[in-house]
Amino acid sequence: MASASESVSANDQLVAAVMGVNGRGSALAKGFSQQKNVVVSHVCDVDSRAIAKGKAAVKQVTGKEAVGVADFRNALDDKSIDILIVAAPNHWHAPASMLAIQAGKHVYVEKPCSHTPREGELLLANSIKHKKVCTMGSQRRSNPGHVKAIEKIHSGAIGNVMFAKCWYANRRGAIGTGKETTAPSWLDYKMWQGPCTDKPFKDNLVHYNWHWHWHWGNGELGNNGVHALDVARWGMQVDYPTRVVSAGGRYRFDDDQETADTHVTSFEFEKKLMVWEGLSWSPKGNEQTGFGVAFHGDKGTLILVDSKYSIYDMRNKLVEEEAFSMSDAPHFSDFLNCIREGGKPNADISEAHKSTLLCHLGNIAHRTGQSLKTDPTNGHFKDDSLSTHWSKDYRKGWEPTV
Ligand SMILES: NC(=O)c1ccc[n+]([C@@H]2O[C@H](COP(=O)([O-])OP(=O)(O)OC[C@H]3O[C@@H](n4cnc5c(N)ncnc54)[C@H](O)[C@@H]3O)[C@@H](O)[C@H]2O)c1
Repeated sequence: MASASESVSANDQLVAAVMGVNGRGSALAKGFSQQKNVVVSHVCDVDSRAIAKGKAAVKQVTGKEAVGVADFRNALDDKSIDILIVAAPNHWHAPASMLAIQAGKHVYVEKPCSHTPREGELLLANSIKHKKVCTMGSQRRSNPGHVKAIEKIHSGAIGNVMFAKCWYANRRGAIGTGKETTAPSWLDYKMWQGPCTDKPFKDNLVHYNWHWHWHWGNGELGNNGVHALDVARWGMQVDYPTRVVSAGGRYRFDDDQETADTHVTSFEFEKKLMVWEGLSWSPKGNEQTGFGVAFHGDKGTLILVDSKYSIYDMRNKLVEEEAFSMSDAPHFSDFLNCIREGGKPNADISEAHKSTLLCHLGNIAHRTGQSLKTDPTNGHFKDDSLSTHWSKDYRKGWEPTV
């Protein structure tokens, strides 16, 4: 696994470039700029307006100007850069991360770490082969409150956990019916699509709405589901499922969205069951919050939301509760420490791939309408006829490799 880079010591400065700075990427540019001995030297985006946002985020913290570039490959060619932070849309996550690793960079890739199951496997293989640290933006893995709650589960506070329920509820609006048109002058749409096979530009696709199209996104399951399923898998200490079943669809709006807005997916493991319930149009979740995981063991229940954990005994009596806050900073420093000192980050790509794979399997079960039997050693389909769903086609010259 990754060992400390020969050239980086604890006090050395690390230099990062951020790819995709419209929303999350600007938050990451700011957050990494706040880390000790880290410089965000480049912000990369194919939207010229977003570059200004990324530069402003860095300047707000450091007072200095980052270099803005349209093509992130310029940053990969720059030997002074140690890290690529990937916050472009999902179809870019694994391809850009792999190019970065092959160019000798460490990678912080936003969730989900891949667009298809095969991309996750290839990204993991790249990180191992090139000995680069690769972590995913599943920041709860490093947040002290979440870490403490999961340690409670692992030390037996609720006994043998056999069931976990993850939920997400939000009131999202419709995205309308887009018109095919030429892309605006501020956007390099060919490079926005990058590794994807070409599809015409529509005026309601960029930004964010790509999440709800299979060609570029992974739906709510691959958006907020991956966060919750990662916490559930971490708590339950399970890797790959034996069976995945999905129910739901796109019920709320008659618009261009393709992915499910009402979705229940279940993942069976050896005598353990995990369920994800996603509602993208109704904000009332469980426990007064739109996001959480309930772990049920044979000695009690632990409810974990982003502000507290609560432990109940088998008579539903509250026996322990602790409030906490949510911060991304510990996740950034965990990644940076691994670059400097070696070791695996809390959301190492080997774990990130397994959690992301659950989302892919849930979406494949949904799209095929099949109950998927899977190999518990690697998550692959037992039924070979489904193998076409493991990967996808790429634009010529962009096929990912190890
Ligand atoms: N960890 C978290 O809590 C968290 C929160 C929000 C978003 N995210 C993830 O971050 C990613 C970005 O989300 P967002 O809401 O900012 O999306 P967005 O669509 O608003 O922004 C994506 C940006 O990437 C840019 N981009 C596309 N192709 C590019 C390329 N080739 N080079 C450089 N930039 C390119 C786009 O122009 C855009 O500015 C998503 O994958 C999302 O899942 C994670």
